[in-house]
Amino acid sequence: MAQTPSSSLDHLSESELTARLDQEVLPKHVAVIMDGNGRWAELRGLPRIAGHREGINSVREMIAQCLELGIRALTIYAFSQENWNRPSQEINALMGLLEHYLSTERDKLIEQQVRFRAVGRLELLPESAQHWVRTTEKETAHLDKMALTVALSYGGRAEIVDAVKGLLRDAASGTVQPDRIDEALFDRYLSTHPLPDPDLLIRTSGETRISNFLLWQLAYTELYFTPTLWPDFRRREFLLALIEYQRRERRFGRVLSTVSS
Ligand code: IPE
Ligand code: IPE
Ligand code: MG
Repeated sequence: MAQTPSSSLDHLSESELTARLDQEVLPKHVAVIMDGNGRWAELRGLPRIAGHREGINSVREMIAQCLELGIRALTIYAFSQENWNRPSQEINALMGLLEHYLSTERDKLIEQQVRFRAVGRLELLPESAQHWVRTTEKETAHLDKMALTVALSYGGRAEIVDAVKGLLRDAASGTVQPDRIDEALFDRYLSTHPLPDPDLLIRTSGETRISNFLLWQLAYTELYFTPTLWPDFRRREFLLALIEYQRRERRFGRVLSTVSS
């Protein structure tokens, strides 16, 4: 199949890009490393927190767009375990933003029928942030139009270690037979269970690394890196990522294309 270089899509409007999407091959689960907020602010001579604040508008748009397109799972990396090493002023501001987002956005999520869940070492969050996380999880637990998972104080290695600990506990109590442990069983001990693995991972801001995100779950995910900073990643940008995803041939180790020799 002939492929259109993405530069040829630059002049297309949002509705023209949407028309190019094949509704049959949309990812079921999209994961996002929302990076570049600080640089977005610095470029404008603003404090870094201004970039985090603007980034929330990108989150709102992406949730709305996923709902419109029928993408039923979105997992976003909001705060990593390693982010605890940032200056306390930035950490406090980020926690404040999280609380503000959850307390003001809850009704909207309910109206949109979005189920919210947080994954990560949530016990490390300030008590007030934990309160809003728990409240939002509880109030949206019955909703099923879309699963919004927010990784907070999250580390992929820590998640795997926690899964191993859970398995060992169940093996010690006899609920799990060690020789029955396989990938599907292991997956049940991960915090993202029962979500399917992400089909597409988007990382903004030009960095091309995983930064300890969903290490197990990304085994066969298509990776999409863009120089766009997260606060600038809006509807057109998401469509470009989806179009690029649809051009990929997901082989999972098999041979799919017939190549004539
Ligand atoms: C991503 O933006 C948001 C978080 C990590 C909380 P950054 O804050 O990492 O922005 P840059 O990478 O410094 O531009
Ligand atoms: C990854 O971004 C974490 C989040 C987006 C929450 P970072 O900005 O923290 O990642 P590194 O430090 O550039 O790898
Ligand atoms: Mg960053």
